[in-house]
Amino acid sequence: MSSYKDEISRRRTFAIISHPDAGKTTLTEKLLLYGGAINLAGSVKGKRTARHAVSDWMEIEKQRGISVTSSVLQFKYNGYCINILDTPGHEDFSEDTYRTLMAADSAVMVIDGSKGVEKQTIKLFKVCVMRHIPIITFINKMDRDAKNSFDLLEDIENVLGINTYPVNWPIGSGKEFKGVFDRNTEKILAFTANNGQKEVEKQEYALDDPALDEVLGQYLRADFMDEIELLDGAGDEFDLEAVREGRLTPVFFGSALTNFGVEPFLEQFLQLTTSPLTRETVSEKVDPMSEDFSAFVFKIQANMNKAHRDRVAFMRICSGKFEKNMEVFHVQGNKKMRLSQPQQIMAQEREIVDEAYAGDIIGVFDPGIFSIGDTICSANHKVQFKGIPTFAPEHFARVRQKDTMKRKQFIKGTNQIAQEGAIQIFQELDAGMEEVIVGVVGVLQFDVLKYRLENEYNVDIIMENLPYEYIRWIVNEELDPKTLDLASDTKRIQDLKGNHLLLFTSYWSIDWALDHNKGLELREFGTN
Ligand code: G4P
Repeated sequence: MSSYKDEISRRRTFAIISHPDAGKTTLTEKLLLYGGAINLAGSVKGKRTARHAVSDWMEIEKQRGISVTSSVLQFKYNGYCINILDTPGHEDFSEDTYRTLMAADSAVMVIDGSKGVEKQTIKLFKVCVMRHIPIITFINKMDRDAKNSFDLLEDIENVLGINTYPVNWPIGSGKEFKGVFDRNTEKILAFTANNGQKEVEKQEYALDDPALDEVLGQYLRADFMDEIELLDGAGDEFDLEAVREGRLTPVFFGSALTNFGVEPFLEQFLQLTTSPLTRETVSEKVDPMSEDFSAFVFKIQANMNKAHRDRVAFMRICSGKFEKNMEVFHVQGNKKMRLSQPQQIMAQEREIVDEAYAGDIIGVFDPGIFSIGDTICSANHKVQFKGIPTFAPEHFARVRQKDTMKRKQFIKGTNQIAQEGAIQIFQELDAGMEEVIVGVVGVLQFDVLKYRLENEYNVDIIMENLPYEYIRWIVNEELDPKTLDLASDTKRIQDLKGNHLLLFTSYWSIDWALDHNKGLELREFGTN
């Protein structure tokens, strides 16, 4: 039995989050340099080179005009088996991005040293905080002129509300970038741009090495000595427990493009994070080492291969071992079933996965029975994971079909696409289904909706953008929303389950609603 436990304990599953252009892709590529086999999206045993597959896959999606979906890359390093969940940024940003974080056990936050914390990072970060998972920060692009390092840390602390512990400390930046000081070993690692090769000849210096005057220059050296003194005096103490609970983020400075500081980062990252975490179900906590298999669906992707009109459900394995053809229990469907075609998805090709362990992601063919948040588990030990939150959409549009004869297709299309989680649909109170209000996390999803309704359901639509930016679920179930005293630009709506919600154009009108309605409780996230 110990071998499957070994497999699980050597797994690390993390997401990389960053604002677009901070260097997430570059850092991921460099991390992959240190690994062996690379797999993509639900794969466990891949043979191809990922870079090619990844870009192919994205190209296909781009051509189809739909968002680039989060993919999973797997590689092995020093006995570890590492799953990286990639989260798309840019306009590709969608609810999928948030959900991907639900499948991760920790997150790496990449920050551009010249910019500090940026908007997209804040949103993703909030989800990590909600889950109390460890967040490790990589401050990138130190080979370019960066902000003052103390200011960068303060920025993280103030904007994100998490304490910081610099694991290393940069000496200069841009043309003056000389390297980093490792606070643990008390050695200086001199910067050498090696243009992305894996093997870097390490040049290390002790603090009292006489050569340092020459390597750093007297002026930089004096500055640097002052800075580390300041750090030791003023900074937070290192506290592994606080890191594991997501209250303290260890910070690394480096330069992904020149592959400087990436391997030390990877090595320490593996020490700072844990093997797959315990997951909560409605009734108990699931130990990842348990022999009983369990997993939950965090993403559903339809029509990955248009010729086959199929859907793939992506599952995060939470406990035990998965074997091909094993019988499992689908909790929400209340049915035993076989996951007979667990897949590895590489561009358009798939390979069957033979086995996978807690921490891994598999993609299975979905004949339309899975929903996001569903549990699949061993029939001997039934559990049900808590639902995945529905994240607050930030863009809204009123959508109706052009041709009223296509009512059925319109309802089917919007409902199916909503079920996959690409969009959320709402209705005006007392309205019929021929017109819906669509909410999305990233605006690209509107194009996806239009494209898919036209191409897959043969329905042309009229879409009218709405000015709302904030949505809140009304917690008070018994409350009739019509009785609420609201600002004139606030809209009352309901979701498909009949839950009541409010749409606001500003924070001001949220406060207005709360001020004018005693006892009203609003929530930013819903649950599936
Ligand atoms: P993203 O996935 O977070 O969006 O960022 P990505 O890695 O694509 O990096 C964005 C840009 O920043 C790229 O340049 C990349 O080469 C550059 N970059 C990443 N890490 C570093 C670093 O450590 N130092 C410096 N100086 N640049 C870095 P680009 O011009 O947009 O693309 P490319 O033409 O170089 O591919």
